[in-house]
Amino acid sequence: MAKFSLACLSCSKKLPESSPAFNCTSCGGQLDARVDLEPIEERCNSPESFAAYEGRQAGSMWRYFDFLPLLDPSHVVSLGEGSTPLLASRHLGPSLGMGHVWFKVETGNPTGSFKDRQVSMGISRAVEMGARGVVTVSSGNVGAAVSAYSARAGLPAMVFVPEMSPANKVAQVQVYGARVFKVNTNSTSGILDAVAPACAKYKFVNLMTASQVNPYINHGAKTMAYEIVHDRVVAGLDPAPDAIVCPAGGGGMLSHVHMGFADLVELGVIARVPRFIVVQPAGCPPLSRAILDGTPIEAVYDHPWPDINTIATALADDIPLDARLAIPAVKNTGGTACIVDDAAILDGEKQLARLEGIFAEPSSATTAAALAQLAQQGVVDKSEHVVLLITGSGFKDMDAARRINPDLPVVALEHDWDAELAMVAAATTSGNL
Ligand SMILES: Cc1ncc(COP(=O)(O)O)c(C=O)c1O
Ligand SMILES: [Zn+2]
Repeated sequence: MAKFSLACLSCSKKLPESSPAFNCTSCGGQLDARVDLEPIEERCNSPESFAAYEGRQAGSMWRYFDFLPLLDPSHVVSLGEGSTPLLASRHLGPSLGMGHVWFKVETGNPTGSFKDRQVSMGISRAVEMGARGVVTVSSGNVGAAVSAYSARAGLPAMVFVPEMSPANKVAQVQVYGARVFKVNTNSTSGILDAVAPACAKYKFVNLMTASQVNPYINHGAKTMAYEIVHDRVVAGLDPAPDAIVCPAGGGGMLSHVHMGFADLVELGVIARVPRFIVVQPAGCPPLSRAILDGTPIEAVYDHPWPDINTIATALADDIPLDARLAIPAVKNTGGTACIVDDAAILDGEKQLARLEGIFAEPSSATTAAALAQLAQQGVVDKSEHVVLLITGSGFKDMDAARRINPDLPVVALEHDWDAELAMVAAATTSGNL
């Protein structure tokens, strides 16, 4: 029996799991990998059985191998991605009057972002399909993951980074040894068009996290949904939260986290998919704008966002290539969109660090910035269970971290330390810290 098949979103053509195609062989349309959940149904049909499900490789997202479009477990290329903590907010949520805010903290993934899930999925499938090498276009996070995982797989890799990519991120991409090109544009879709013919000619699989480029890679993000439900069941909570606050660039993560929850509805593990709230930066918000303005989906593909200018560089996709899946995922769950400016994003980064001990890069801190907006506007009720996806580590962008804090003056060794400690101790006891 087949584990999965591929379906064309444009003409509905079906391709078997053995197909080498990345796009529809009839019309060139976007393919969607569909995993048959029937073989899992017997073992996972209630919150309890799902929580007890051991799967394949405990301690990584590959525990959920059976849910992913890969045929042979021996092809898995893993650095221990996934299995990340779901932390209850202790201070940020309560400071907004919200008692049930959680963080799905992806910062501890092997290269520091949730993209490791997708790249582990994408490169494992590339290995299974006999790729000669891999490429990606990335402002840094996918690039770092592709560079690291290709080293692990022993495959050559080329990474094309837009000009605006933070130096810190580019350095990380280089460390793992991929050939890196900084291209003189900020248009990821433009770079994609320029490199696509050569990639096809030399059988290099494109590991951009866009489903129209690679129908497998984004499936790695489904495991975030499985883990959230797993951890909530173990904690004795209602298995599905009410809302997921999700930063988006291309929309691949959002649409596949949504797909993960939809899988669990299909299996009977949860009763409903949570509302999806998409967050984008004011300097490049094409997906959020389309949702707020009711723009027809195809129009989003025809009008690249013209003047990108944001500190949340990981979200700066001029064309959100997964809009076809992401916009319905937001609308069909009764969700909405948020737009946050750079000042609010930096404040969100500061709040996450100071109130929760979580160091997130600006693109992930958009969710903390959005939470304040959502609470103020009453978009989420204060009694609701809300999960913020904290997608990338603050270490990724130390320039941004430096912008949050003043330069430290040098203090003399003979300074009055007694007075300093007395002040801090007094602030602590009076609860002013
Ligand atoms: C840290 C971080 N958060 C969120 C996203 C958004 O993911 P997507 O492009 O799938 O919407 C990205 C994508 O690069 C990212 O690097
Ligand atoms: Zn087709």
